[in-house]
This record gives sequence, structure tokens and C-alpha cells, in this order.
Amino acid sequence: MKKLGILVSGQGSNMTAIHNACEQGYLQAEVEVVISSNPDAKALTKAKERKIDAISFNETTNKNPEVLDTSICEVLYEHKVDLVLLAGFMKKIGPKVLSIFEGSILNIHPSLLPKYGGQGLYGINVHRAVVEAGEKKSGATIHLVNSDYDKGTILAQKSVIVDADDTPQSLAAKVLEVEHVLYVETVKKIIEGNIIL
Ligand code: GRF
Repeated sequence: MKKLGILVSGQGSNMTAIHNACEQGYLQAEVEVVISSNPDAKALTKAKERKIDAISFNETTNKNPEVLDTSICEVLYEHKVDLVLLAGFMKKIGPKVLSIFEGSILNIHPSLLPKYGGQGLYGINVHRAVVEAGEKKSGATIHLVNSDYDKGTILAQKSVIVDADDTPQSLAAKVLEVEHVLYVETVKKIIEGNIIL
């Protein structure tokens, strides 16, 4: 059984999809810990309801990148996490976490990287940019995390059609649906040795 640590800041739908897949035995893995950068995140409530060990950092910890880095590192280390999954995590991963877990940290981004990635391109901003550019196709990307935003090796992508009447919101909903499938499938391939990190 692989031990997963999931980092969240928002609603936690990817976290939920991964946890469901573990509970159903589809993934040979357990969600050991959920770490939230936001004490009010819906993801945190969902994790607690599911009896997952869930930890939240507060404004004071978040404001100091070094403290946040050390705190995340300690929690992941204590839980003996094999794979770190960023699922809507809004903080930058620091050098300590990277030095211990680099190569085992995945992120999901709601566009077909390298398009529409980088600083400022998160959440609805991504989908607005895609719609405004008149793209015919968008999607989701799973990539390894390094010290550059959205620049690590791409492991998997899944696309969706952008329809002429799509709004940023409707596109976001479409992409989120494929994200859940893509994240679970990619973690499965890693666990089963079909993607080597
Ligand atoms: C997803 O769109 C993901 O691609 C992005 O943040 C969002 C998180 O959604 N990084 P959720 O919290 O998993 O519902």
C-alpha cells in the first residue's frame, strides 16, 4: 500500500476522487494525511468527515514561507508519505519539501500545459484566458513539481473540447470532471509501475 499525502486549499473534489478510489480498492493506496493551507477550506471539512488525518496551517504559518516549508515537510515525513499530491494547493512548495520529496510530488493543473500555466494562471483565470484566446481544446495536466510553477515534467494529459458557447465557468466544470479521472488513473499507473517517476 502506497501512502499518499494530499495538499489542498479549496473545495477538495480531486482529493475526494482519490480518496474514493482508495476506499473502493481501485488504488492500492491510503490517504495518510491531508494538509490544508487554508483553515476554512471545504476540503478540510471533507477530509475530517472521512476520518482522514487532516492538518491545517493558519495565516501565521502561511505568511512565513520557511516555517510553512518546514511544517509541511515534518507532517509528510511523520506520516511516511510515498507520494505527495497537490490538489488545488495554492502555496508554493518550498526547498525542504522539494529536497526530500522531489520526484514524488505531483500537481494537477487545469489546462494543457505548457499552455496557460505559470504565475497568476490558476483557477478561473486559466479558463478565462483559454476562452478569450478562442482555443478549441483545453484539458488537464498532471506534472511533477519542481521549483518553477507548472514547469515540471508532464506525466499525463486529458483534453476536452471547448464549445463556442463555453464560458470560463462551464469550461471549468468540464475540465474538473476529467481532472478527477486523470488524477486517479495517473496515480494508479505510478503505483502499478506503468509510469516510472
Ligand atoms: C483544480 O481545478 C486543479 O486543477 C487546480 O485547482 C483546482 C482544485 O479543485 N490546481 P479541487 O479543490 O480539487 O476541487
